[in-house]
Amino acid sequence: MMRASSLDKETQSDVQFLPVSSESTNPARRGQSKYENIEVVFQDNITKIIINRPNKKNALSFEAYKEVTQALDEAGKDDSVLTVLTGYGDYFTSGNDLNNVFRKSAGSLEDVVKDTTDVVRIFVHKFIDFPKPLVAMVNGPAIGIGTTILGLFDLVYASDMATFNTPFSKLGQHPEGCSSYIFPRMMGLSKATEVLLFNKTLSAHEACNLGLVTEVFPDRTFQQEVWARLKAYATLPKTCLALSKQLIRSVDKDKLHSVCDKEFKLLSERPHSEDAFNAIQQFFSRKSKM
Ligand code: COA
Repeated sequence: MMRASSLDKETQSDVQFLPVSSESTNPARRGQSKYENIEVVFQDNITKIIINRPNKKNALSFEAYKEVTQALDEAGKDDSVLTVLTGYGDYFTSGNDLNNVFRKSAGSLEDVVKDTTDVVRIFVHKFIDFPKPLVAMVNGPAIGIGTTILGLFDLVYASDMATFNTPFSKLGQHPEGCSSYIFPRMMGLSKATEVLLFNKTLSAHEACNLGLVTEVFPDRTFQQEVWARLKAYATLPKTCLALSKQLIRSVDKDKLHSVCDKEFKLLSERPHSEDAFNAIQQFFSRKSKM
């Protein structure tokens, strides 16, 4: 059952965003979104990117990765002070769409792996380079890259219904999103190992204690409380905030780009991994779920 405060289409009016194409903030363009998997909304100096595949728990398909990358590119140049990423429905995102490896149009398995890896690598680089304050509103469970990418956000606000899980080893996969570098430094090596190697699920409060989440809110008031706070933050001077963010992030930026490339090199070197295919096939055969 959908929780009352989760951001679905019906409750969207609670937060009073105007859905517009990210090409323009002109309300006349409302409803003309060029995106199929996300919605981009601009209001009160905030660009909000909403993953819009609630029936698939907001899994990130090949196209969804490309759309978020493009939306971030545009948000980095638009008039907004802050950019927010969140999801419709009860999940933030269930991570990589496990159908990505079965895309028929992409050719051989090597081509599929290369295409997907390239698209996700570019997606992660876009977060590393994002020039303005970037906020995650984690409205529900965050799986895989939905958890790892959070280390690249400037603020992470979570509902107390959110959980954080990276089932990489169950899927024959490896950490990405710069988590192999950020998580050990953020949480300490042994906690990061439990999460990244041994699939430990963190509650929102545990993730907050480990530094991954900035603050946890009751799910009932999550949208209202966070949105009120962000609206106040978005009245601060845009250029000042952007330059301070860039200053803080500049220390690690080159390192993060090289970590990202290293992570995707490892992922692309194991395309035939039997553990990966067995796990994915098992998921779709419904015999077992993560
Ligand atoms: N990739 C592809 N499809 C996904 C998905 C994913 N990551 N996560 C959810 N879905 C789809 C399901 O296949 C299902 O589709 P269907 O209705 O067409 O059958 C739909 O979303 C709803 O998911 P379902 O599994 O029925 O819901 P649930 O509440 O029982 O379980 C999850 C939700 C997220 C726990 C479960 O779907 C899951 O484990 N997904 C895989 C997560 C994952 O491993 N991600 C990759 C990390 S590296």
